Amino acid sequence: MSALKSIVIGCGSMGNNQANILQSLDEYELVAVVDIFEEAAKKTGEKLGVPWSCNLEHVLNEYDIDVVAICSSNKGHAEACICAARHQVKAVYCEKPMAINLGEAKEMRATCEEHGVILIINHQRRIGEDMRAMKKAIDDGLIGEIIRIRTDNGGDILSDGTHGIDSMCYLANDAEVKSVTGLVHRKNYNDSDDEASGYEKGNGYRFGHAIEDGGVGFIEFANGIRGEVYCGDMVLKRTAYQCYEVTGTKGRLWRVGDYGRTGGCNVFIDDGNDDSYDIQKNIGDDKWMYRPRNNTWRPLIDDLAGKENGIEKSYKILADCLKTGATHPMSGNIGYTDMEIVMAIYESARLGHAVALPLQQNDFPLDLMIAEQQLQTNKVQ
Ligand SMILES: NC(=O)c1ccc[n+]([C@@H]2O[C@H](COP(=O)([O-])OP(=O)(O)OC[C@H]3O[C@@H](n4cnc5c(N)ncnc54)[C@H](O)[C@@H]3O)[C@@H](O)[C@H]2O)c1
Repeated sequence: MSALKSIVIGCGSMGNNQANILQSLDEYELVAVVDIFEEAAKKTGEKLGVPWSCNLEHVLNEYDIDVVAICSSNKGHAEACICAARHQVKAVYCEKPMAINLGEAKEMRATCEEHGVILIINHQRRIGEDMRAMKKAIDDGLIGEIIRIRTDNGGDILSDGTHGIDSMCYLANDAEVKSVTGLVHRKNYNDSDDEASGYEKGNGYRFGHAIEDGGVGFIEFANGIRGEVYCGDMVLKRTAYQCYEVTGTKGRLWRVGDYGRTGGCNVFIDDGNDDSYDIQKNIGDDKWMYRPRNNTWRPLIDDLAGKENGIEKSYKILADCLKTGATHPMSGNIGYTDMEIVMAIYESARLGHAVALPLQQNDFPLDLMIAEQQLQTNKVQ
């Protein structure tokens, strides 16, 4: 198969990262880069020696493009995806979060389906060596039946929590989600969505949409697992960017932040042995109380540092999928479920009760809460 003709939309840090990856892989040919800001497009295009443009439509009309990488701000994902799908590209590789509301995500999925376009949402963490090792430990029964998966994510629910939610779903075997209960709070009242004043992190807006300061979500999976997501200022203090704790009836897994990526192992297991846990008979046979001993944690895998680049790996998988027709592990359907969970956290916070999936709300509930001045009354004094 000849190299897949590709373009990158959005020439910021992720766009440059993906453009470099596409240029480095034999399976792909980087044909052009696109950004709404001329300066950004020109800088990246000239650096990489490829044509640049501010007009996606023109680029799609001019070249016969196979793969479109969407690395623009979250606000532009849906428009770019729908435009690319209508031009009958083979695959859209869209950065997370899929979109900024569920209505957009539905339209992206439907347009790709209609035109036979493969849609990938870039939650590359789920195919990382750490996640696969944790999943294998779970599947091998090393920590018994899974009761709870908890994840801490620095940042907002939409941009950062989405990674934690996606990896949590992977560890929970992508089981159906029955309901979601959420809480969010927002201390910042600069509610302008004017780009010049608003898009900076910490200013109430980021990547072209409103954000909260902190959020918590509880997810009820149909297989009995309870998911807990903590974001922004609700994460455990001094936690690195992303943490996972998995509790089973016989042990625990702990992915201790991201520091392992720059040195040292960051995934630990406490699987003990027969005398490291116990069923407490006094609370009934159907209940359990996991009792760890001191010093039972050990590394699950050796040093993870620098072993693989998840995005590069994912692009290689995509090239194979296009050859064989196999389904990519980061498919649009999985990305859509992640979006539903993210949006259900906000919707639950808005309504004040748990919400069942499938979610009906197509708008961004945080916008609705801001418009209704709902969050102002929650202001921390
Ligand atoms: N998967 C990951 O681990 C990961 C990590 C970082 C960022 N991201 C995602 O990547 C995307 C970009 O993040 P970033 O850190 O590179 O941001 P950035 O601000 O550095 O770059 C975004 C670029 O997109 C351009 N842009 C904005 N709207 C556009 C539009 N409608 N059409 C074309 N270009 C447009 C901007 O001019 C800017 O150059 C975001 O969606 C973010 O969530 C994912």
